[in-house]
Amino acid sequence: MLKVNDAHILNKVDYKSYQEKVSKINEMIDENKGAGNDYTGWVNYPETFDKVEFESIKKYAKEVRDNYEVLVVCGIGGSYLGARAAIEALRGLRSDDKLEIIFFGQTFSSDYVYETLKYLEKKNFAINVISKSGTTTETAIAFRLVKELLEKKVGKEKARKAIFATTDAHKGALRELSNKEGYVTFNLPGNIGGRYSVFTAVGLFPLACAGLDIDSLMKGALEAQKACKNPSIDANPAYKYAVLRDYFYRHQKPVEMFVTYEPRLTQLGEWFKQLFGESEGKDGKGLLPHSATFSTDLHSLGQYVQDGNKIMFETILFVHNPNNDVIIPHDEKDLDGLNYLEGKSLGFVNEKAFLGTLEAHTKTGGVPNIILEVDKLDAFNLGYLFYFFMKTCAMSAYLLEVNPFNQPGVEVYKKNMFHLLGKKGY
Ligand code: PA5
Repeated sequence: MLKVNDAHILNKVDYKSYQEKVSKINEMIDENKGAGNDYTGWVNYPETFDKVEFESIKKYAKEVRDNYEVLVVCGIGGSYLGARAAIEALRGLRSDDKLEIIFFGQTFSSDYVYETLKYLEKKNFAINVISKSGTTTETAIAFRLVKELLEKKVGKEKARKAIFATTDAHKGALRELSNKEGYVTFNLPGNIGGRYSVFTAVGLFPLACAGLDIDSLMKGALEAQKACKNPSIDANPAYKYAVLRDYFYRHQKPVEMFVTYEPRLTQLGEWFKQLFGESEGKDGKGLLPHSATFSTDLHSLGQYVQDGNKIMFETILFVHNPNNDVIIPHDEKDLDGLNYLEGKSLGFVNEKAFLGTLEAHTKTGGVPNIILEVDKLDAFNLGYLFYFFMKTCAMSAYLLEVNPFNQPGVEVYKKNMFHLLGKKGY
């Protein structure tokens, strides 16, 4: 599971002074009385999720695994990042699983879209289109194109059976289209917003198709739901982390750098940035969420963290036990001078890199580090982590006195873009 280690934050945080406020917010979340309270369906979801739909997700995922080479997951933002983060975290970056997963619908880039469609011409593929509103332009354009390709390749009837839609249970353009075309659909509950939706079919269907253990993911989420319900900052890891984030925000550290030492967790950093950035960045407030993968980025951003403007604190997610390890071999000539490491594992080296960096960044660099420690990376712990971050985010945003569940700012560019594109009404 997870430990929030505050031994390296270089500050004395008076948790007690936060307790009354945190307890009040906790009660507000429990009683569903805070700002944005029509979007809090995720809070008890690991307990209340639709068990019938869960089984149907597994059934159709098996059908996809048994019948196709590729699943094209078409979505953006909250309808994309959770599934991608989870699949990369659990399958790794060189998966040889029989089902390839391709993410589509998250960009207007014609090069990306062209190359993906070209690649799919030769593949036997199914599509999972995910959009709560059904009107998100990137996703809608991509879906129109990939659906057309599929229909041309296999005919309308076979294409209909290969398309799975995840959308709002009752309304929206994609719901209407799916009903009309007769696609299998999964529901995105009306009271759960995109970036809090990874435990719904939005995340679960792609994960199950990828052959991953969604039962364990939900068990981990449930465990976190229980642990992160406790009003006591001492006992609740999410509230402890939320208080630390709030403390640094109020003490001239407006940037949080989320760091992992695992390339397979890089996309979790992207999910993290959306969750916190869209939830907190409003009314002129909010920490700027940034992310990095060490040791890779120690060779790029490392200089800035060590020696640059002291605007940040780091949050390190460290996984103690790698799923697979590699031993460094002996070399007769030792021309690379690495024999001092012979017989040692890369897990050991990675841990020493983490410890050495921790000391460099905190003691020498004066950059506070919060450490989130996890034993190993599996579906259970990932479910725990997703929920932990979402509960942290709700508490952090309420501490800032902003609504954690809306995103009014993202409409501004869309209006301008629609005007430039000549959309009716803009
Ligand atoms: O978190 C959010 O609300 C957003 O990122 C949305 O998920 C994203 O804009 C996609 O929206 P939709 O699912 O309606 O296509």
